[in-house]
Amino acid sequence: MPYGEQHRPQFHFSPPAKWMNDPNGLVYYHGEYHLFYQYYPGNTVWGPMHWGHAVSKDLVHWDNLSVALYPDPLGYIFSGSAFIDGKNTSGLQTGKHPPMIAFYTHHDESRKKEGRKDYQNQSLAYSKDMGRSFIKYKYNPVILNPGEEDFRDPKVIWNENLHIWILILTAGKKVKFYRSANLLQWEYVCDFGSGTGEQGGVWECPDLFPVKSENGTKWVLVVSIVQGAPNGGSGTQYFIGDFDGRNFINDNTDDTTLWLDYGPDNYAGVSWSDIPGEDGRRIFLGWMSNWNYAEKVPTDPWRGAMTIPRSLALKNTRNGLRLTAEPVKELENLRRNKHNLEWNTDVVIQLSGLNEIIMTANLIKTTAEDFGFIFFNRLDEKLVVGFNRLSNQFYIDRTGSGKTNFSFAFPGRFYAPRITNDSGFKWHLFLDRASLEFFADNGLVSMTEIFFPNENIDRVSFFQYKGKVKIQACTLYELKSIWQTDNT
Ligand code: FRU
Repeated sequence: MPYGEQHRPQFHFSPPAKWMNDPNGLVYYHGEYHLFYQYYPGNTVWGPMHWGHAVSKDLVHWDNLSVALYPDPLGYIFSGSAFIDGKNTSGLQTGKHPPMIAFYTHHDESRKKEGRKDYQNQSLAYSKDMGRSFIKYKYNPVILNPGEEDFRDPKVIWNENLHIWILILTAGKKVKFYRSANLLQWEYVCDFGSGTGEQGGVWECPDLFPVKSENGTKWVLVVSIVQGAPNGGSGTQYFIGDFDGRNFINDNTDDTTLWLDYGPDNYAGVSWSDIPGEDGRRIFLGWMSNWNYAEKVPTDPWRGAMTIPRSLALKNTRNGLRLTAEPVKELENLRRNKHNLEWNTDVVIQLSGLNEIIMTANLIKTTAEDFGFIFFNRLDEKLVVGFNRLSNQFYIDRTGSGKTNFSFAFPGRFYAPRITNDSGFKWHLFLDRASLEFFADNGLVSMTEIFFPNENIDRVSFFQYKGKVKIQACTLYELKSIWQTDNT
């Protein structure tokens, strides 16, 4: 059965076979959400990169399409972005559709092996048939490497006020800004980030977008970082500030690093371009893995999955504005059965294994010091999702979750701080075959973790230490698979 293997995600995107890492070229056009991705069709470990391709009409169900971009004499096709050149500023349009343009990094492995620094350059390709085929621009690369060893992952956005294209990319541990009127000639503007934010590893896969907030429109700059995340390895930080079309001014002067997700498995995420104004959401998707162990996770014949799509917003907190990430509402269409749960400790609830749980509780009326859910199976392999009131931290523990010894970095208990002091408490969880996504306080904190039990997780119980939890409501949904027709 396709997509029926052990650990195969049932409502997350994963490639039919072989290796996948970052989402690339997320763009909406004509009723279709495009998802391109870093793909190596030759193996289940990283190799010469292609752009794989899938499309969805609802952000939830995906159709696999053929490979969109193949490596060529200029190099492998590394990460980048795609968008619609609606005004044909590039002059590349010939037919009725405005060009869908993909910007990517050409990575020249032979130059790298020769010890040259200029092995990454920026190129573009365009599609005249709604992303079904791409033509590489004949004067590639369009941005030449200025002598920076890591120089990659271009994100291109249209600045409506200035009528100009902005391109950002990461170079070492900073972001570089460029501008263009026609997408073909680029002017370097400035750098942002040296010595700012988390600097534990190379920066990758930047994104930049405006978000309306209670303090007016702010700009959010998202940057993935390969090492230095709060729970080890790869993670995604963000900055909030202002952007005048040239400079990004960071609001945050106290140098606290802001994290988009505290779990170990949400990396290289970026947002969709060209979401229609009447929708207005900023929809984000990440790669559900971590470079610490990505090439070792025990799945076959594929490796790699994406997170569920999330809608991003800004919320005022006692520490200032923070980004929230919440599951997109389209996921509600996967719900098939609903159960209202009454929690007593010792009660074990059977799970279908594809589940969503929404729990609300009152913290003032809660006396327990530590509480949460234990997801487990017949073999007593488990995943613990909890909150510790003394340390004010959420945690997910996958130490005993099944196959964990493929990497020393994999097992462990991973933490996230609670950001608000509200007495009302909301947990929102998505359990798929091999992943758990946890959203607390309406998305102020999220944690994404993968795990590999020897049998499917099919039960959950509730625990509370030293006191009781005042639960207000707890709803459990069984979810449909997006790949199987028998709904399991
Ligand atoms: C991030 C990344 C990008 C690069 C791509 C290569 O995971 O390292 O910086 O473009 O993967 O596959």
